[in-house]
Amino acid sequence: MYKFKSEALDKEISVGGNKSILEVFNQEGRAIYAPCGGKGTCGKCKVKVSGKINPLSDEESKLLTSQEISNGIRLACKTHAEGDIEVQLIEDKLTNGAKGKLGSGIQYAADPLICRKTEKLTAPTLDSGETVIDMLRGVLGAVKLDLNIIREISQKIDYTEEGSFVVWDNKIIDMAFGKTDNQLYGIAVDIGTTTVVCYLMDLRQGRQVGVSSMQNPQVGYGADVISRIQYTIENPEGLEILRTRIIRGIDLLIREVCEKTAVHKQDIYMGVFVGNTTMAHLFWGFDCSSLSRLPFNAVTQDMIVENSQNIGISNMNKNGRVIFLPGIAGFVGADTVGAMIAAELVNYDENSLLVDLGTNGEIVLSTSRGRYACSTAAGPAFEGARIKYGMQAFPGAIDHGAVEEDLEYTTIGDQPPRGICGSGLIDIVSGLLEAGVISEDGKIAEPEELKSSKLAGRIMKSGRTKEILIVDESLENNQSRITLTQKDIRELQLAKGAIRAGIDILLKVSGLTVDNVDRLLLAGAFGNFVNRESALKIGLFPDFHPDKIIPLGNAAGEGAKKALCSRAVLKEIALHYAQTTKHIEISSHPDFEKAFMEGMYFR
Ligand code: FES
Repeated sequence: MYKFKSEALDKEISVGGNKSILEVFNQEGRAIYAPCGGKGTCGKCKVKVSGKINPLSDEESKLLTSQEISNGIRLACKTHAEGDIEVQLIEDKLTNGAKGKLGSGIQYAADPLICRKTEKLTAPTLDSGETVIDMLRGVLGAVKLDLNIIREISQKIDYTEEGSFVVWDNKIIDMAFGKTDNQLYGIAVDIGTTTVVCYLMDLRQGRQVGVSSMQNPQVGYGADVISRIQYTIENPEGLEILRTRIIRGIDLLIREVCEKTAVHKQDIYMGVFVGNTTMAHLFWGFDCSSLSRLPFNAVTQDMIVENSQNIGISNMNKNGRVIFLPGIAGFVGADTVGAMIAAELVNYDENSLLVDLGTNGEIVLSTSRGRYACSTAAGPAFEGARIKYGMQAFPGAIDHGAVEEDLEYTTIGDQPPRGICGSGLIDIVSGLLEAGVISEDGKIAEPEELKSSKLAGRIMKSGRTKEILIVDESLENNQSRITLTQKDIRELQLAKGAIRAGIDILLKVSGLTVDNVDRLLLAGAFGNFVNRESALKIGLFPDFHPDKIIPLGNAAGEGAKKALCSRAVLKEIALHYAQTTKHIEISSHPDFEKAFMEGMYFR
């Protein structure tokens, strides 16, 4: 056994048995971003290691630069200890979510499904013949009580002090006598495939008091839903491992937000959770195999309510309730319902297109004739996965770019460039397209075809493959080289083709054209940062006027917050959206192939 040290683990542990660094972190419930699930093909799980380790693998020789290798950088999935080691994460991906998930400052009208009622009880008299519970109902209305609460009341009832009762959907779930602070908090949790965000809400005021976010602890098992479903199918313990990871992760987030805001976990009585269909299955521990084959049926899309303790969440009141919003069908899950709530798609006079560009792309078209939804296998290209130097929107990511005589870019936090995030990718490709460096069909031009010698000098050829130099390490001291490869451009085309196919088919099914659509609502943090003109230029969306494009931020999370604060949203609107939206399986639509192929063109 060897000593394994990492600041990110907060402790020193012992490891052996050739367990990769990625496996050790996964086992400790700490995720390292691992889009390919540890297959050694994505090159994203970079860590800095010192100490005795195995020799460089073939995969690492291919995926790491010589500069990285000499700086002690290794791939976590291909490296294991052969003596005592210390591991440093390249960035704090454990607790920092991508930017743009902090939540709006909107204060919602507070009428949650849960409330506190304060009453001083009068002792039953000899004449009344009332039981304690009769008397309680006389004061609080026709409330329901479970056996454990009846038992608790029988032991604690005090007629000399005021009683404080927490009532959940007409059922008493907690009580106290004497001086209480009467606080009532709830959490809205958005379980994204990549990022998990926990919003702490004061339910008496409908106000957000804190937020915490982290990389989804399941990313160590693959960036997209398909790899995680596959993991549960191939490993007998896989489902339980992924379920435990997300529950533990959420528990950590609640603890963190409570520490930041000095709120007691006992005062958190309610949680509203959203996530796509796969995230819901992994959260509840439902077998995922039906999601891996046609017709991609979920085990259930119902709204589920459970006691927080039964789920394994310890940082809420032990009698607290967790609700997962309902989903629609197939891969269109509760996160889409959350986004629909935030987008307020209730106005049937308006035709609205809602596009959520997350790791999966979900699209909803709300029209006067009905609502239609689909999910597209856009893949995680917008979040940097499958792009050679792609990364999430962390400090140092190239987030915007422009191309004229030469290429220019900005990075998040003005930090030295470390990679390209989704908004940067779209800006750069849009600029290169306009400058003729990339053609409509995605091919990189020959240097001699370009007028600008600076741009021509950025095209690097090795045999038949070409790359475009984005950051030149020889010009910018101490920088790593960053390029855009032909394969990266193809990945973007595939993602774009999927989104466009989804939009085109929903329009066709509804009998509308782009001109009939009044607004394009962009959900997801990416929608906030993407340059609308660039997105239109590469044809990510049909030909909308930029003013019709409205970014909504993390709409799924906002929808969960709204449902948390309003019983009507939770019990009526969420269910209405889930039950009345028609799911369209685009991959089996006769026009899919044509729409997808056409959608891949940058026009
Ligand atoms: S290369 Fe290690 S997770 Fe992909």
